[in-house]
Amino acid sequence: MLTQHSHTSGDVGAFYNRHTDVYDDALGGNIHVGYWDDEADGSSMQVATDRLTDLVTERLAPAEGQHLLDVGCGHGSTAARIIAHHAVRITGVSVSDYQVELANRRPQPAELPGRATFQWADATQLPLPDQSFDGAYAIESLMHMKDKAAALGHIARVLRPGGRLVIAEHSLEGELAPPDADRMAEACRFFMVSLSPDRYGTLLREAGLEVVDYTDTTENVRRSYDSMTDGWRKAAHDLDGQEAREMETAAELGAWFFAFPQLRYGLLTAMRT
Ligand SMILES: C[S@@+](CC[C@H](N)C(=O)[O-])C[C@H]1O[C@@H](n2cnc3c(N)ncnc32)[C@H](O)[C@@H]1O
Repeated sequence: MLTQHSHTSGDVGAFYNRHTDVYDDALGGNIHVGYWDDEADGSSMQVATDRLTDLVTERLAPAEGQHLLDVGCGHGSTAARIIAHHAVRITGVSVSDYQVELANRRPQPAELPGRATFQWADATQLPLPDQSFDGAYAIESLMHMKDKAAALGHIARVLRPGGRLVIAEHSLEGELAPPDADRMAEACRFFMVSLSPDRYGTLLREAGLEVVDYTDTTENVRRSYDSMTDGWRKAAHDLDGQEAREMETAAELGAWFFAFPQLRYGLLTAMRT
């Protein structure tokens, strides 16, 4: 990894206990970036973030009755959209107990085609049976995992052969020199992330997953970032003391991080061999 971090999954969970409502508010009810077709696309944040979910789902192409794993499920908005349109069963895991509570509280009316359940679990030590899933997706969660090889190893283990993994994630291209390298290390420490320098290629292969496709969508998602920075600024204004300072730092570091030219965002499809 180009960037190292020292946080635990408990630290990440605590971060999301504090930041989930800010993300939700800034990103139209989701906790991931939006996708716009081009400059002329005037879609709202909610439409754009739902579209990212749809792009991930299309890549998974779930068949009726399949069981999917949502790795780093947030507050369940992604799974909620999938089960509203597909007759699948989803198990979601997150290291934020607040998110798991919100996700399990979401209504699932009987007329929905699918069903979802959520539990606290660390994807680097996934407590789920071998080959128990037909597909898996990880939207902006692998970046938070220090031991990405362990997480991908567990995902490969719980997938049946031929099962797909779809990843939507940031990565960092090329080597960084000071002062960018120092600033990037500071941002990664704050946001508790480490970024893959090779779009997960080596890690996936070593885990027994074959890359089927990678699409660079950096420019399609870029519009999300200003909204995120504004969201942290607004939260800083509404909070006091240490909580306000944390949101102010998030806005300041986030504005730099998201504008960094070597930061990329891509959609990746892999298959369990
Ligand atoms: C940016 S949020 C994305 C949430 C969700 N995928 C979505 O698109 O709305 C990152 C998520 O990764 C989860 N996460 C981070 N590290 C994790 C780990 N080791 N195991 C499980 N989930 C993890 C967090 O709890 C959080 O739900």
